[in-house]
Amino acid sequence: MDSRIERVCETFKNRFGHEPTHVVRAPGRVNLIGEHTDYNQGFVLPMAIDRDILVAASPREDKAVSLYAMQYGTSSLFSLDLVRHSRSNWSNYVRGTVAVFMGSGHSLKGFNAVFEGNIPQGGGLSSSAALEVAFSLLLSELNDLSIDRLVLAQLARRAENEFVGVQCGIMDQFVSLFGKKDSAIFLDCRDLSHKNIPLVLDRYGLKLVLVDSGVKRGLIESAYNARRLECEQGVALLRTKLGRKEIKSLRDVSSAEFTSLAESLPETICKRSWHVISENERVKEAVDALEKGDFGTFGLLLNHSHESMRDDFEASCPEIDLFVQLAQGVPGVLGSRMTGAGFGGCTISLVKANSLDLFRSRVIDPYQRRTGHRAEMMIFSAVDGASSLPL
Ligand code: GLA
Repeated sequence: MDSRIERVCETFKNRFGHEPTHVVRAPGRVNLIGEHTDYNQGFVLPMAIDRDILVAASPREDKAVSLYAMQYGTSSLFSLDLVRHSRSNWSNYVRGTVAVFMGSGHSLKGFNAVFEGNIPQGGGLSSSAALEVAFSLLLSELNDLSIDRLVLAQLARRAENEFVGVQCGIMDQFVSLFGKKDSAIFLDCRDLSHKNIPLVLDRYGLKLVLVDSGVKRGLIESAYNARRLECEQGVALLRTKLGRKEIKSLRDVSSAEFTSLAESLPETICKRSWHVISENERVKEAVDALEKGDFGTFGLLLNHSHESMRDDFEASCPEIDLFVQLAQGVPGVLGSRMTGAGFGGCTISLVKANSLDLFRSRVIDPYQRRTGHRAEMMIFSAVDGASSLPL
């Protein structure tokens, strides 16, 4: 057994006095391209990564839920009869998941659970979605509900929307469940159809380098919800101005249509809408490029996506802009951008394997010197989505 799993099971046994009956894991994700497009019914290209949440659990006879978070060393206890918000942030993701399951008519047993995670938090790698997905899968297994994966993704997302209060899209929960080893997932967030896009970069002498900028995302919830609202305002205005009732989301507006009346829109709404419309195009072009093995084009699309997030969606921050600018100037770096919701967090860069040392000396070192932030570099790979592990 993997040593992390052993530790989680051991901690469970020490706290509850018996072995767990279930262990599940749910991965975090990196979004390659397609930012803030998911809740606009657009396209995204994320991958599940080899950083995850592990939960060991067993059912109880009563209605209590007793939780212990190893990385915080804190516990939380509540009753299924009254699921209220907690002051402990992590516990709300679990409470939210429990609440939406019960709200959807599933009757649940109480349970004991211990969890541990190695996904950097507040870095745009979806540690919270992984927690919601891990507990969704766990609740389905513990209560023999056999819930379909797509429904699990939707329940996990509702936990975030309805209980935690972030109006996120479906991307993070979806990829945490549907991720595929050595592939990115091209997801259409309108009909939820998806296609696995093989991504074996080593064969081409390339690496995807993830760097945590060390900038923790501030006010992410309110900024995120505000951006979402601006996109909705964009839809309403475009629908009226174009006189097309069938426009339900920014996805339904072509670049040509948008350009024809961009000048008549309020500046902020215009910029937010253009980010989403152009980003959808970039995702489709990125999939094409990857399928042809054209990594040069793929890299350029990463750069353009960053510019759009910085200038039009205004969801970047000066430190990350500096990082990306340094990275884009290094020979052997094909593209670089911030990943995730924004306002801080992680960057991804597509780098030739033989340029990694140069990347370190010309990007990581000067970034750390100039910003005072520690920048942690990780090379990661795409893994399968959430699973229940044999004991
Ligand atoms: C967060 C949300 C996702 C998505 C991204 C931005 O990760 O949870 O639904 O909107 O931001 O692309």
